[in-house]
Amino acid sequence: MPIPTPVIELRGVTKTYKLGGETLNALDNVSLVIQPGDYVTLTGPSGSGKSTLANIIGGLDQPTSGTVIVDGNDLSQLRDAQLSEYRNHHIGFVFQSFNLQGNNTIVENVMLPLVFSKVGRKARKARAIECLQAVGLGDHLKHTANQLSGGQRQRVAIARALAVRPSIIIADEPTGNLDSAKGKEIMALINDLNTQGITILIITHDQEVARKAKHMIEIRDGKLSEHGA
Ligand SMILES: Nc1ncnc2c1ncn2[C@@H]1O[C@H](COP(=O)(O)OP(=O)(O)OP(=O)(O)O)[C@@H](O)[C@H]1O
Ligand SMILES: [Mg+2]
Repeated sequence: MPIPTPVIELRGVTKTYKLGGETLNALDNVSLVIQPGDYVTLTGPSGSGKSTLANIIGGLDQPTSGTVIVDGNDLSQLRDAQLSEYRNHHIGFVFQSFNLQGNNTIVENVMLPLVFSKVGRKARKARAIECLQAVGLGDHLKHTANQLSGGQRQRVAIARALAVRPSIIIADEPTGNLDSAKGKEIMALINDLNTQGITILIITHDQEVARKAKHMIEIRDGKLSEHGA
């Protein structure tokens, strides 16, 4: 079988923060390969570099040194405008705090990332409704985000990530704020997306969530170790 081209490849990625006289390597020479359709969880103690890594892969942050290639794009070679273009076409980000606009309807929330696409308002709305139906919120289209439960809000956040038809979904603690039943529903939804071919990278503190992955990566003090599933 031919070796597939990785969807995510990090080579020697270091992220250094300077605070006062101190320097801190939030990521220390991290190399990592994720194949298309893979399902990877990233675990590690608080402050170990998980969000830093996710933000760099998602193009929200740049490494101090090293190479990041996602979907064939060398992120260090992209200018700001190209980087936002990349974010808006390849990556679906699900933030722990949902990052929804509470007073707007969920349809408006899910339409938001499509503002950068070239499709008109009508098509954006249709796509938003399609994504909300896919996460089981088709009966709640007129609700604002504030009028939903935590689990429903998390589903809106996933619908919003799906709107751009991403090849990769990065989720930072997608079950962190939910009780275990609602957490299981969200994980089932994420599993479905993986069966449809979307590459999944989940950050989690929950060992039960982590064990569901095809690959588990652990990070400590900015350094990786991988366990096969
Ligand atoms: N903008 C910043 N300036 C300085 N230091 C930072 C900055 N962002 C993160 N750090 C530091 O980098 C390290 C890694 O932070 P990161 O947010 O990646 O941790 P994390 O593994 O996501 O933790 P948590 O589980 O608590 O979310 C921490 O020591 C943090 O203090
Ligand atoms: Mg974090």
